[in-house]
Amino acid sequence: MTAVRTPGPLLTGRRAVVTGGARGIGAAIASSFAAHGATVLVVDVEPGPDVDFDRAAGGSIESIEADVCAAPVHPALAAHGADVLVNNVGHFVRAPRPFVDDTDDQWAALHEVNLGHVLRLTHALLPGLAERGGSIVNLTTVEAHRAIPGHSVYSAYKAALMQFTRSLSAEVGPAGVRVNAIAPDLIETPQVPYADLVPEGERALWPRWSPLGGPGTPDDVAGAALFLASDLSRFVTGTTVHVDGGTHGSGGWVPRATGGWTNRPRNP
Ligand SMILES: NC(=O)c1ccc[n+]([C@@H]2O[C@H](COP(=O)([O-])OP(=O)(O)OC[C@H]3O[C@@H](n4cnc5c(N)ncnc54)[C@H](O)[C@@H]3O)[C@@H](O)[C@H]2O)c1
Repeated sequence: MTAVRTPGPLLTGRRAVVTGGARGIGAAIASSFAAHGATVLVVDVEPGPDVDFDRAAGGSIESIEADVCAAPVHPALAAHGADVLVNNVGHFVRAPRPFVDDTDDQWAALHEVNLGHVLRLTHALLPGLAERGGSIVNLTTVEAHRAIPGHSVYSAYKAALMQFTRSLSAEVGPAGVRVNAIAPDLIETPQVPYADLVPEGERALWPRWSPLGGPGTPDDVAGAALFLASDLSRFVTGTTVHVDGGTHGSGGWVPRATGGWTNRPRNP
């Protein structure tokens, strides 16, 4: 059991909604919140989560099997009375391809899954969050801060989500609502299954993928979410926590096999 799933007091008596909480990062966030005493409602197109956490702090996880992009589910989520909303659902939608080959339908799908539903769900829950002095945590990506060729539109919507986070935080701060983002990179999940994606012969390179190596785990992201959801971050709003082993901070610099660093294509 990792530190974020060890029973603790950080969210005792709080209620949380976590979108996409059946798998990957969302499931780790739901588990860590419940381990810290929260009553968590997960909404996911898949059943679950089937997760392991210690119930000593009195937390629990319930789930609704639904598409969070479908507006009719939003009143049910608002009725949970959340103190914390984690907008975790987001997706590449399609394999990398040149922007010139994209279609309107793909842009619409990318908009909906990465930005559109977040606006509508946040809008539906915001009055309740303001009554209770709540916290909103939005999952963006390192690619909201740097390029990702082949996924220009995805990165544009994630960057928009980051900017929504900033502006909304200023708007609702006086009402007692905090709004922050987490920008992951290199986290092993069903969407980004590095264990399958990285050929066996290249796995020895993991220590050089970021200043902290890699890959990271969903629990690494859950730690940041627990901080942003709880009173530990009472005076933190409008910011992004980068959970990426340092890929954003290092800006393309990687350790050479022979020692030292390079930001050039040739990396002997
Ligand atoms: N894994 C990474 O390295 C990484 C990197 C950058 C950003 N992110 C972001 O973190 C978030 C979570 O990523 P992940 O890798 O855990 O994703 P994932 O695809 O592994 O898990 C997402 C979960 O959301 C659910 N889901 C998808 N669409 C849904 C919908 N319309 N309605 C309800 N549930 C839905 C899926 O069933 C799944 O349980 C995403 O916003 C993603 O963009 C992840």
